[in-house]
Amino acid sequence: MNKPKRYTITSALPYTNGPIHIGHLAGVYVPADIYARYLRLTGNDVVFIGGSDEHGVPITIKAKNEGVSPQDVVDKYHAIIKQSFEEFGITFDNYSRTSAKIHHETASEFFKTLYDKGEFIEESTEQLYDEKANQFLADRFVTGTCPKCGNEEAYGDQCEKCGTSLNATDLINPKSALTGNVPTLKETKHWFLPLDKHEAFLKEWILEGHKKDWKPNVYGQVKSWIDDGLRPRAVTRDLDWGIPVPVEGGEGKVLYVWFDAPIGYISSTKEWAQREGKDWEPYWKSDDTKLVHFIGKDNIVFHCIIFPAMLKAEGSYILPENVPANEFLNLEGNKLSTSKNWAVWLPEYLKEFPGQQDVLRYTLTASAPETKDNDFTWKDFQARNNNELVAIFGNFINRVVVLTNKYYNGVVPAPNAFSQVDEETLAAVKAYPDVISSSIERYRFREAQQELMNLARLGNKYLADEEPWKVVKLDEARTQTIMYVALQIASALATLSEPFLPFTSAKLKSMLNRTSGDVATSWNEVSIKEVLLPAGHQIAQAELLFSKIEDDTIQFQLDKLEASKKANEAANKTVEPQKDTITFDDFTKLDLRVGTILEAEKMPKAKKLLVLKVDTGIDVRTIVSGIAESFTPEEVVGKQVTVLVNLAPRALRGVESEGMILMTETAEGKLVFVNPDTAGVTNGLQIS
Ligand code: MF3
Ligand code: ZN
Repeated sequence: MNKPKRYTITSALPYTNGPIHIGHLAGVYVPADIYARYLRLTGNDVVFIGGSDEHGVPITIKAKNEGVSPQDVVDKYHAIIKQSFEEFGITFDNYSRTSAKIHHETASEFFKTLYDKGEFIEESTEQLYDEKANQFLADRFVTGTCPKCGNEEAYGDQCEKCGTSLNATDLINPKSALTGNVPTLKETKHWFLPLDKHEAFLKEWILEGHKKDWKPNVYGQVKSWIDDGLRPRAVTRDLDWGIPVPVEGGEGKVLYVWFDAPIGYISSTKEWAQREGKDWEPYWKSDDTKLVHFIGKDNIVFHCIIFPAMLKAEGSYILPENVPANEFLNLEGNKLSTSKNWAVWLPEYLKEFPGQQDVLRYTLTASAPETKDNDFTWKDFQARNNNELVAIFGNFINRVVVLTNKYYNGVVPAPNAFSQVDEETLAAVKAYPDVISSSIERYRFREAQQELMNLARLGNKYLADEEPWKVVKLDEARTQTIMYVALQIASALATLSEPFLPFTSAKLKSMLNRTSGDVATSWNEVSIKEVLLPAGHQIAQAELLFSKIEDDTIQFQLDKLEASKKANEAANKTVEPQKDTITFDDFTKLDLRVGTILEAEKMPKAKKLLVLKVDTGIDVRTIVSGIAESFTPEEVVGKQVTVLVNLAPRALRGVESEGMILMTETAEGKLVFVNPDTAGVTNGLQIS
């Protein structure tokens, strides 16, 4: 077991322009929380930092679209995000926000320090400008083609496809995200961080220093950027939402969001320290502190190159020990998207699956995108719950607790002679803390959680093999031993599940009544203590840990996704342009009547066609209509419809069609009748 250390653990500060979804959770917050909980459990000094990233272009765009102020947007989502993290059991020691006064002060000071040290280049250059919006275009105000990978939807500060960080003027064919205009160039002054100046240090620190211990996906990206050569990056912007540039000539300009946001980790630590009566500085400035950033892959460049260059330039800070960035999580095969509402939103999940936080935590860890992009599916969620949490973990615990209550009124029985299987089983349990620790310490949370489940499997198998429910009828002494061993496994599970399944762990601890008596409760004790739950200890009644998730629950979620896909398609469907003008005379040539469909049958061998008999008021005639994919014949009989009666007859598949029924198509592609809105109108009435 390692010596206790001081840890500063940060998790990416989410933009406050929408709620948290499963992509954020799987990529950043669940692994960070597992890590933080684990380190606390093993006796380390941990500060786990979170907060809202409240500046930046996406927030101003959202505010503009909704006709509210950026402050309104961030206030709303900060509250929603903070609340949902709490309910989900993410144990931030502090959750701050970058609009907080302490952050404005900290970020301003940081900038001034670099400015005073001559770490910036101050320069007037030509930047993209939208003449129509009267605004400079940077970051997400402008899109264009990435010069590196050809992605046509790269942003002014970064291409999300290849991860490269860009200057807006690097984009090929830039286009304003505000007006769609092609920007012009206009001169403006900014402060640049000369990344090229830090290249040698970055090379030595990362390429030589962290080749072995950083994840290959992170190391590889960083290496390719450094190999391409680094260039100065503007760290100020011509905007009015953000932290004002605190130096002469900075009027009307703000700090670039990616300059201020990571400093938010520091401000949040300060806020925490003030509240707790601690000193924040060792957490950021002491060489024996381990700083670890949990982020998604689109944040790698900022946390591995730009922020470290800032910290190094400032001079008094430590650098991250590791940046275990994850790849992306997809949902049912498609990229998660806030704007397309293709997501599972945390606040909705919490409402729809009350008390089932651990099921989502478990599934997200089991399919975490640790080494490559991964897919979340509702079927997998259901299967993991039903086949793993219910059938293995829940089943084992339930049997142990129910039988202990049944046979011994809930008192842990004294064991008699251990069999070889008992000895082996107890020895196997002791090995788990180190096995799980080793995976967690290498940021392999999936593997760690699998090991935890292997312990539950061990318990399940032990009971299934030893069959205390049969032995109890034959051998009282042996039954006591079996139940004693099973109870030791249950107690080990209660301890070791805490980082992964904190709600379950808490329930299990209370079922085992672990707060009273001489019970081993710490992580390390599972390895070193002979007895985890002593004979004579009173446990409580069984509670249900997990319950089966039925098909209709899953179908409801799938239907919701389907509906959002449809809504999106509808929103993206372009309205047909208006046709050429016709004269009033042209119009009066059309003879439109109210009619009723009397009979309908399928046209043989034609997928789309129904042959209808329609009472037009003038006559009963045959009309062939291409509606068979939207309606069955039975559905249309009796419908009152609008008919163009003087259309020249034409033969369709040998059947003469004398007219046309007016239809339109919904966004989902379903045909609907253009009905005469006419209670009481009779067939034959003319429409004009
Ligand atoms: N808001 C950013 C995002 O959602 C992450 C900011 S991380 C920090 O991608 F370092 F800036 F805080
Ligand atoms: Zn690119």
